[in-house]
Amino acid sequence: MVAFDVEQARRETRGCVEHIHFNNAGASLPPMPVANALYAYLREEEEHGGYEVMARRAAELDHFYTAAAKLLNCSADEIAFADSATRAWNAAFYAFDFQPGDRILASSAEYGSSLVALLHQAKRLGVEISWVPDDPTGQIDINSLESQIDRRVKLICLTQVPSGGGLINPAAEVGKVAKTAGIPYLLDACQALGQMPVDVDHLGCDLLCGTGRKFLRGPRGTGLLYVRKKLLEKLEPNQLNHYAAPLLSAKSYQLRSDAKRFECWERSYAAQLALGVAIDYALAWGLEAISERVRFLATSLRQKLAGIDGVTLTDQGLEHCAIVTFFSAQLPAKQLQQQLALRQINTSTVPFSANPVSSEKLHHPALLRASLHYYNTVEEVECFVAELKQLL
Ligand SMILES: Cc1ncc(COP(=O)(O)O)c(C=O)c1O
Repeated sequence: MVAFDVEQARRETRGCVEHIHFNNAGASLPPMPVANALYAYLREEEEHGGYEVMARRAAELDHFYTAAAKLLNCSADEIAFADSATRAWNAAFYAFDFQPGDRILASSAEYGSSLVALLHQAKRLGVEISWVPDDPTGQIDINSLESQIDRRVKLICLTQVPSGGGLINPAAEVGKVAKTAGIPYLLDACQALGQMPVDVDHLGCDLLCGTGRKFLRGPRGTGLLYVRKKLLEKLEPNQLNHYAAPLLSAKSYQLRSDAKRFECWERSYAAQLALGVAIDYALAWGLEAISERVRFLATSLRQKLAGIDGVTLTDQGLEHCAIVTFFSAQLPAKQLQQQLALRQINTSTVPFSANPVSSEKLHHPALLRASLHYYNTVEEVECFVAELKQLL
């Protein structure tokens, strides 16, 4: 394993002094450079005015796009800033001009909010949502996906890492199927960004959404949308405004040619700048190194949990990430979470809305979620397990 300077990571993370933060799939602790950039920008706005700061910090604000492009291996004009992954996913999804009878293929890992949007369009437009079955390990079944392709399929949706478990879906395999069939591919990489390398060319996705506050360690209220240039030209946002489509006269506008056609002018510029800093920070650690470190910690936690009587791990798929979910025969997840919180250990439970399709299929009781990041330590894992043993 590549040496990882955990001490430095912890020195630069104020929040890890008082807590064991195992809620990184909810929102991770921002590192000092990110938090400081955010506070400084807000202070400057307070002292000089929002528009004035925006003008003089234009280059740094613009840096967000270059940083995101580097993170995803695309070009800066294929990136739009969004205030959440939901907003980014919806912007992409609702831009498709679906017709009655069109089919959308989706995975059982889709996030609750995306499911609502899918059901909404099915109801409104008469499109058909086809759920691609999982293979026996619980990840998307590539053969079934291939066999479901026909002329009516207009979009393939996949969540790479669902929020309710360790599953990493074979997103690049899905990309190959989508490319061969010439069908647009929308990837929800919300839990993957900042946790592992996410390269849009390798994954073969045409659209990708992500959020800032999770494994990227950015501020809340931030996210991004990637749109492949070839598709961008064809995709008209469902809603326009005078930033997405500048006015040419009182009678006409021109849609922007870049992904900013999915943006609004007003947003938290402080948060946009800080998200750029968070991306730089993640890139400086290296996504391969981060992925290796979080998997090492999560594997150690899984092994220890497997040795506790009455604890059932619920990971699906072949490859497992930093999100560890389980239930206990002794205590419901909500009580466990509350008890752990009293001991300064942050975890979360998995709501039904996180993965509704797979939750209905798997029938698990409520799950406790311990999601780890690289600034967590082996000692924290041991402490977590010891506290858990006392509670059970
Ligand atoms: C897999 C996945 N997709 C999408 C989202 C939505 O992200 P946001 O809350 O930033 O809209 C989440 C949030 O938990 C998620 O886990």
